Amino acid sequence: MDGNWFKDHVVFLTGATGNLGGCLLYKLAIQLPTAKIFVLIRGSVQQAIESWEQSMPEHVDKIIATGKVQFLLGDMTQPNLGLTPSNLLRLQNEVTLVINSAGDISLSRGLAETLPINCTAHLTLVALADTFTRLTHFLHVSTTFVSSFLPDGTVKEKIYTLVEDPKEELATILATGQSSYTKEFAAPYALAKYLAERLLLEGDHSFPVLIVRPCFISPAIEEPYPFYGSDGAIPVHSFIQVLFEDSEYGLFKLEQVVPRHVACNEIPVDLVARTCLAHVAKGTKGVVHASSDLYVNRTVDELFNRIRLYAPKGIVEAIKKAGIDHGDVPAPELYSMINQFARDWRIECTRSTDLKSVKGPLGLLLCDHDPDAFFKQRIERLAKSILDKLGTLNLSNNKFYQT
Ligand SMILES: NC(=O)c1ccc[n+]([C@@H]2O[C@H](COP(=O)([O-])OP(=O)(O)OC[C@H]3O[C@@H](n4cnc5c(N)ncnc54)[C@H](OP(=O)(O)O)[C@@H]3O)[C@@H](O)[C@H]2O)c1
Repeated sequence: MDGNWFKDHVVFLTGATGNLGGCLLYKLAIQLPTAKIFVLIRGSVQQAIESWEQSMPEHVDKIIATGKVQFLLGDMTQPNLGLTPSNLLRLQNEVTLVINSAGDISLSRGLAETLPINCTAHLTLVALADTFTRLTHFLHVSTTFVSSFLPDGTVKEKIYTLVEDPKEELATILATGQSSYTKEFAAPYALAKYLAERLLLEGDHSFPVLIVRPCFISPAIEEPYPFYGSDGAIPVHSFIQVLFEDSEYGLFKLEQVVPRHVACNEIPVDLVARTCLAHVAKGTKGVVHASSDLYVNRTVDELFNRIRLYAPKGIVEAIKKAGIDHGDVPAPELYSMINQFARDWRIECTRSTDLKSVKGPLGLLLCDHDPDAFFKQRIERLAKSILDKLGTLNLSNNKFYQT
């Protein structure tokens, strides 16, 4: 896999201040010979830099010092993405590759609220991309949650036709704010992303559309640095925090209702970024999964056992006592959603099998990475960050939580 493919490419990257977008930005700016990266940012340049100072403090200066990053103010949900006419013209004349990683991953938003950023914004983007004169590649980041209506079994890298006419369905939702399909999906977020996929792939474009569907994203193993990733964008961390604190719907109660052999599909954010960029360089079209088959497959049972083993003694009580609210979905709703949508899925990643033996910034070879040792450190770090927030670090870290 040749990183030199990116030489001369001018990228338009959305979501660059986010978890996955930040990792993609790091790779494009530092590891790959990309010519230029336009980043769409909300607010101000100062705010974008501050968000990278939070997420990757050791790397932000290096990224800016490459001179590759060009800031464009905008908002995906506005007409023309909120770009000024002159900035739009720059994109139309220069961009060769669009990487669309913006989204709102909140599972608590209603359909009318999530649709603009998780569906219609992407249709605005692709319509603008049709006017980019040098564009050869378009990558959209979706989610394996788009298939949450499927039963247990294998999930293939393809579109499953649940909604007969996605255009008509979108029109219905825009007119009424509702959809008869909402209940089929784990969250309105997933339905919005499902419709976006369908409409992006079914559109008539002069460039190929690639859709990468990550499963739950977990902390980076390496890039930009080990354990990179904000808890808010790492679903398993959010779930643990929300459920830990609820006595009625607690994490270890969930364990008793979710089948233990069910897969807990997670993949480190940098492996998602590598999968995205490798497939762009290969010229892949259509749907590609970035799921645990590309890292390690763990069952719910294995996940719970490890959490129980590595979480410090007393953390559950400390969280309950503080009564803090960490997540955007309250514990009872989250509990019932997981219970209802936990699937024994085998998410196929066959289109990326060859990448598992490739080293470097576009490869998925794990070299000397030890997933179990990494997971142990991850839980310990998560516990420490929760306890730091609670200001109760007087708990012993060498005694482990026991049920
Ligand atoms: N996290 C996961 O486990 C997961 C799993 C599967 C798929 N995905 C997908 O991966 C992609 C990236 O998610 P993430 O985990 O990196 O989420 P994230 O950390 O919340 O990042 C979201 C990004 O989207 C930007 N954004 C949101 N609304 C916008 C708007 N109206 N205009 C312009 N930019 C906007 C945010 O900008 P601000 O900084 O201005 O808010 C931020 O840069 C999304 O498409 C998501 O659906 C995520």
